[in-house]
Order: sequence, then structure tokens, then C-alpha cells
Amino acid sequence: MTLDIRPFETPLGAEVRGVDLSQDLDDAAFAVIERAWNEHSVLLFRDQSIDEARQLAFSRRFGDLEIHVLDQYLHPEHPEILIVSNVMDGDRHVGIYDAGRYWHTDLSYMAVPSRGSLLYAIEIPHDAAGEPLGDTLFASTSAAYDALDAATRHRISGLKAEFSLANRHARLVADGDPGAVLSDTHRDRAPPVVHPVVRTHPITGRRSIYVNEGQTAGILGLPEDEARDLLHELCAHCTRPEFVYRHRWRAGDLLIWDNIPTQHLAICDYALPQRRYLHRTTLRGTPPQ
Ligand code: SIN
Repeated sequence: MTLDIRPFETPLGAEVRGVDLSQDLDDAAFAVIERAWNEHSVLLFRDQSIDEARQLAFSRRFGDLEIHVLDQYLHPEHPEILIVSNVMDGDRHVGIYDAGRYWHTDLSYMAVPSRGSLLYAIEIPHDAAGEPLGDTLFASTSAAYDALDAATRHRISGLKAEFSLANRHARLVADGDPGAVLSDTHRDRAPPVVHPVVRTHPITGRRSIYVNEGQTAGILGLPEDEARDLLHELCAHCTRPEFVYRHRWRAGDLLIWDNIPTQHLAICDYALPQRRYLHRTTLRGTPPQ
């Protein structure tokens, strides 16, 4: 099979065919994949069968890996793997079960947010009719930026926003998530940070809107009401249906997404005994500019 990149009909996303990630990829094939990732922001590899070591090795081709701040959900033998799952071991969650409840970009609450993430599906829940549950939606925040009118672009250029893990936690608590816990250690490891509202991709040069409903606490330097309204307006704009790709998971899917020009949202429409279990690796980024 030859490597084939098939773009989706949405402003982001493409399927990569003809690649078996359980085998070594030569540099030429990897260069095609990396270019496609920069161009399409989200890449899908179907029907993969990879163990932890293979996922780590493929992920490292894109850059250095993060060890996630929420260390209670790390893979016990491979700390660079974050377990995303609703599965319980007794009364303990084996993974982060409420990841992606709100639109967000991974680690936007860190001073140096993540460049990208790779999520490999091991178990996917289904409804009684066999349809997959637990879809993930991805929005192109660069398409959203391009669609802004000139006055709004001018208004937001140079603005900065505050991001915090505590903001995400407060939202989960407000929405009645019984397991939402944020220890003082985690709070100290991820104090509030400030990033530009518009960021420029270091490779493609494209601008994107960099605020999200889950992790942005507020826009700075504006009267409170105006800042709140602008944040809501930008978040709603970024996730308009025309900017969104909805991924319906199958076990064996590996998705890689670019956290700079995208946001994502995980739909929680399943519950045990429907099991969802995935492995995420997270690529280290650079400070947003
Ligand atoms: C995440 O936000 O990284 C998890 C997304 C998902 O569970 O689909």
C-alpha cells in the first residue's frame, strides 16, 4: 500500500492511508505525514495495532513528550502516556474520565502549552444498536480567525488572556462532577498563566484564536463585562459547525492533532458498563506568540 493523504470536507482533518504504525516508518514517509499534519491539523490513522512502546516511538518522531501534570492518571509503566478512560479499578479511576468535557486545547493552562497530542483508541463504547459513542469534535481556530471581520481582528490583536487549570476544575465542580479533585500540589504546579488571544503558528505562519471555554479564565485589560462578553463571543465563534470535524471512534484509531490551530471537545454520552479506554501522548510546545 502506498501512503495516501485524504483530506476531509471540513476545514481541518485528513485520513492517512497506507501506513502501518506497528512498523518503522522511513524518513521520507514521516516527512509526508508531518507536512500533512501541519496542513490539516488533525490526522486519522485507522485500523492500527500498536503497543505503548510503538505509540511512544511514533510520538517522539514529532518532538519531545510531556509528562501530564495530573499524574494520578499516568500509565504506571510509561509516564509519558496519559490514560483517558472511564474505567474503574475498585473505587479508583484508572484514567482521566472527564478529559475534554469543555472545548479546550491541551495544556493551554501551562506557561508552555502542548504542541500536539496523539490519542490511540483501545476500547470505544457503543450503544445498543452498535453505534459508537464518545465522539470527539475538533474545531479549526485558524479557519475561525480567517472568518472574523476586520474590526474584530483589529479589536483582539494584542489582547492577552489568563488561563488556569483551576478554571477547568471550577467548571467541573459547578457542573456537578462528583470526582473533580484538584490538589494543592496540582494547583501549585499549574498556576494561572497569560497567553495572547491571537497566536501565530511557528511553522505555517497562520493566525488562530487562542481562547477556549474550558481553560480560559478571562481576557485582560478590558472592563469585566466587556471581557466576559468578548470571551463568550470568541469561544462561540470558534466552535461554529462550519469549523468543526466530528470524529466517530473505532478501536484501533490513532488521531494526532495540532494544539495550536485547534480546540477539541469529548462527548460524554456513555457510562459504565460501556467502557472507553485510550492512550494519549502529548507533545511539548513553545510559548505562544
Ligand atoms: C482530550 O481532551 O485529550 C481527550 C479527548 C477525548 O477523550 O476524546
